[in-house]
Amino acid sequence: MMDFLRRIKRALVSFRERAKMRSEASRAFRYDRRQFMANAGALHLDRKAAARAEIVMAYHVLEKGLTMPCRRLGFGRGAVVRLVHLVDSFERRFGAGDPQVTHAVGVLRAYRELHRDWPEPMPRLDAFLAARPDVPAAREPHVRRADFFAAKDAPFPEFAASRHVCRHFAGPVPRETVESAIALATTAPSACNRQHARVHVVDSPALRDRLFEMQGGTRGFGQDADKVLVVTSDLSAVRWSWERHDAYTNGGIFVMNLCYALHYFGVAHCILHWSVPPGTDRAAHALLGIPENEAIVQVVACGLPPEEFDVAASPRLAGADITTWHGDGR
Ligand SMILES: Cc1cc2nc3c(=O)[nH]c(=O)nc-3n(C[C@H](O)[C@H](O)[C@H](O)COP(=O)(O)O)c2cc1C
Repeated sequence: MMDFLRRIKRALVSFRERAKMRSEASRAFRYDRRQFMANAGALHLDRKAAARAEIVMAYHVLEKGLTMPCRRLGFGRGAVVRLVHLVDSFERRFGAGDPQVTHAVGVLRAYRELHRDWPEPMPRLDAFLAARPDVPAAREPHVRRADFFAAKDAPFPEFAASRHVCRHFAGPVPRETVESAIALATTAPSACNRQHARVHVVDSPALRDRLFEMQGGTRGFGQDADKVLVVTSDLSAVRWSWERHDAYTNGGIFVMNLCYALHYFGVAHCILHWSVPPGTDRAAHALLGIPENEAIVQVVACGLPPEEFDVAASPRLAGADITTWHGDGR
């Protein structure tokens, strides 16, 4: 009898705790929703930071185009027109001199230089560049494979600076190398060492192509990727409502470690977003047989790079520009 009562009591406590969790989770997601709606750049393009992010995204499309394996002249005409418009509008509203916006002008000049013999005129772009004569063409580094991986054993600052995504794949990555990279990536920290990350290795061209179709960010290079690492995060490791972002924070930290590990082992990698609608996410789970409790965090395409290739420069903000000190700052 006592045993029965104890069991009833335990069930009641557990029911109450779960009800509390559910209510807290709803509150947390309502808070996130409000914060997102009030601040996400996509919904507030009138703000300077959002307008700058839009420009960075637009110049990156061209920067990628300039470094693509099978680049065809005449590519990205629409992207050029759009970027010219975005920069013009930004400078009118917020003034000139922002380093990321200046880089956008440099990318446009590099595009024009590449198309100097293009038969069709580009009067809008030419006028735009003529009005900004001091901005030189941006240079996308051309590297040899040996140099790209030369900092493998260098001190961390050099090693970290040498890592870049590479969108040129020319050969297979041995299974053992992928296994070694994943094993090294498990050194990533995680909340209470719960180790949320899981990796699904796609080693089939048919599955890769289907997945990339859903993902949408691999045009021009995805078809050459040898393997695709789908990094997921096990929601079972999330222990309370306020940890609602933990699947993604822990998964993201793992992805970064995985990219360093791949770079260390001489494997070219390209991180790919998984910002897809729910239906696509569901379809990818079904395609790869990923259980529902695993949230897809990111996808990493990889392969062996060719002897020589171009890398998108992707210049960074200065540390000081992204840092706010609170307190004395000594
Ligand atoms: C979350 C995330 C999503 C990304 N998605 C894509 C993508 O869909 N397609 C692509 O070509 N590159 C993608 N990238 C690669 C970025 O463009 C690249 O990391 C960035 O420009 C910095 O360059 P770096 O890694 O060479 O230093 C993504 C990177 C991250 C971190």
